[in-house]
Amino acid sequence: MFQSVSLSSRAGTPDALVVGVFQGEALDPRSRQLDPDGMIGLAAKRKDCTGEAGRVVEAFPGSKGRAARVLILGLGKRESFKPGQLRSLLGAVGRRLAVTKDQDVLLALEHALGAVDADAEQCGRAAGEGLGLIAWHADQFKGKGHDPKRLPLRVRSASRAFAAGLGRGLALAASANFTRTLSETPPNIATTGYIADQARKLARQTGLSCRVFEERDLERERLVGLLNVGKASENRPRMIRLEYRPRDGRGGEKPIVLVGKTMTYDSGGLSLKINNGMVGMKRDKDGGCAVLGAMHAIATVVKPRRRVVALLSVAENSISDEAYRPDDVIRYRNGVTVEVTNTDAEGRLVLADALIWACEKENPQYIVDLATLTGGVVVALGSTFCGMFCENDKLRGKIEAASEASGERVWRLPMHDEYRDMMKSPVADILNSNPNRKAHPVQGAAFLSYFVEKNVPWCHLDIAGVHEADSDAGCFRKGPTGWGARLLAELLDRE
Ligand code: BES
Ligand code: MN
Ligand code: ZN
Repeated sequence: MFQSVSLSSRAGTPDALVVGVFQGEALDPRSRQLDPDGMIGLAAKRKDCTGEAGRVVEAFPGSKGRAARVLILGLGKRESFKPGQLRSLLGAVGRRLAVTKDQDVLLALEHALGAVDADAEQCGRAAGEGLGLIAWHADQFKGKGHDPKRLPLRVRSASRAFAAGLGRGLALAASANFTRTLSETPPNIATTGYIADQARKLARQTGLSCRVFEERDLERERLVGLLNVGKASENRPRMIRLEYRPRDGRGGEKPIVLVGKTMTYDSGGLSLKINNGMVGMKRDKDGGCAVLGAMHAIATVVKPRRRVVALLSVAENSISDEAYRPDDVIRYRNGVTVEVTNTDAEGRLVLADALIWACEKENPQYIVDLATLTGGVVVALGSTFCGMFCENDKLRGKIEAASEASGERVWRLPMHDEYRDMMKSPVADILNSNPNRKAHPVQGAAFLSYFVEKNVPWCHLDIAGVHEADSDAGCFRKGPTGWGARLLAELLDRE
């Protein structure tokens, strides 16, 4: 793809011009006027220029002083158009530009979009996100056998509102891309210590404060989930706390707390993952990576008026003589005891520490946790929706609004006392997993609920289905999606 994508304010003839057309409609007169020679209009009449969403056809105006290439982008059906669609539409444009190698591109979509009642800034933002996300590349681990050949891309718009949105969208995509790069980093490099270094570096660069709880701190604070799950790995467990404070110093208010499951690798532990179940478990850190990406956006783009605290539970679920085992019992600092039935249900054990800490120490306005918690949520919702558990109507409304705006979809799953009862243990208070194999994603949420104080609004997002794309589509390519970084940034933007 591109070396980088940036917003440019130059004038003059661009390498390429992008105009839009709705499905089954003629090119709007203002777009047509961009080429007095009539070549754009001619191309728009070709049979392949259907206007279907994401269809890109080319026109070649060719006379001096005009863009040598025009891309006519299909915007889909006019009646159902929503600004958010520009995310994947610009993904299609990005793919084409990577082939054509045009570097200075003028987006002139505002003419076609004038026919719908769409906010120009929002349209620009979605377009910027789409281009920024499609441009993500991870070749930091490519070696001598790789020849990248990537060019920088500059985009501009004559519409001031669209350009402003474009800049913001590109910045938000950069935060999500930070999440994706971390996700992509292999587990022999992205160890628990590496994640801590990344958090410290982020804090240094963006003015956040950062505290890393090393193993002795975890012991002192009795963060026993992390200690147990992380016991078998020479990469010792950690909890990372980042804090954003608004400039006006209204720091005394209750913060919003973001929690992320950050398993640098999940082998399953003694309840070892079988067959190919282990492959890809480097991405079991994606909850925490999304929280880091969100903090990046919060500190550099959103700059909300509220205090934000991020807590990452970081460990590697491995195997050794030191490993925690099925049948072990763990006593948490909130007094709840847990019988371990399955060491592969480790995410909830480490999240419990962060949730207890949040309730006890942070006085949170509300808590949102992100975790690649269960394979069950992938079975239930695929990669289309994230599983959302939230019994607080007001918080759920906020999450849903942020979801709508960011395009990161959530679907509510149930909580009920019957599920909480299902987690009861004959030996301790609760089990970490009921072997009856029922409703795994809900079991995860029911387990976590034992560690959140009743009066604290809380939302659990099981991102196991959405943190990774299994094919090239829309503004993503096969690989990590950075899911959650933009949703959380949007959530804080609305606070
Ligand atoms: N990290 C996995 C969940 C997962 C599965 C994430 C597939 C992404 C893709 C989690 O720690 C896990 O192993 N969950 C178990 C829970 C079970 C043992 C109760 C699962 O879902 O099978
Ligand atoms: Mn597991
Ligand atoms: Zn896991």
